[in-house]
Amino acid sequence: MARVAINVDHVATIRQARLSAEPDPVTAAALAELAGAHGIVVHLREDRRHIQDRDVQVLRRTVKTRLNLEMASTEEMVQVALEIKPDVVTLVPEKRRELTTEGGLDVVLLEKSLRETIRTLHNGGIAVSLFINADPGQIRAAHRLEVEYVEIHTGMFADADSYTKRQEEYDRIVTAARLARELELGVHAGHGVDYRNIAMLRNVGEIQEFSIGHSVIARAVLVGMERAVREMIALVNG
Ligand code: PXP
Repeated sequence: MARVAINVDHVATIRQARLSAEPDPVTAAALAELAGAHGIVVHLREDRRHIQDRDVQVLRRTVKTRLNLEMASTEEMVQVALEIKPDVVTLVPEKRRELTTEGGLDVVLLEKSLRETIRTLHNGGIAVSLFINADPGQIRAAHRLEVEYVEIHTGMFADADSYTKRQEEYDRIVTAARLARELELGVHAGHGVDYRNIAMLRNVGEIQEFSIGHSVIARAVLVGMERAVREMIALVNG
């Protein structure tokens, strides 16, 4: 059975719309854990558009499962991570003008600079995951960097507008996940996973953890956090 890690960024998005104190992503994380989530994910962006430094600090003290901090590979963020000490850092590419993370990290191109960041995080006792496209070259580069996990980008699969395209993207995910497991990397997957497409993705047995945000928070707004999380976990379990 794959684990389900819940990304609570969009609870903070609602709060920041009014620059107020509610709703609190810390409370949402606690409810997600009560509903059975196996981990909590937050993305501390350079522009602090949703999650704030305070959120990550409080979550570090309150999350009982695993705290996964998504962040860009910058000096500022590495310092934050070393202070907070999340269980896992997921390194993601970040552009100021994007609505959400758009593509995977180009680990092949950035191998040299990522090596430095990864070494610093490892020295701080933090496991590292790299968010990458479902591409064998990227998986091999991640393996060379000796990270613990890769997170395979499922966004192209989720956005596919035809059956053929979706099947192609699915096959890419399967091939990448198999290679990652052969290389003894832990395999996470995420982006665009929802209550419908999980039916197909959950068949990729190599995926050990799904990282899910938007679809669960969107449903939680209407039916409540615990129900939204429980329904997703039930679907992941088939
Ligand atoms: N994984 C990564 C690396 C992400 O950047 C995001 C979006 O914050 C997610 C997973 C979750 O994607 P979604 O919100 O589409 O479920």
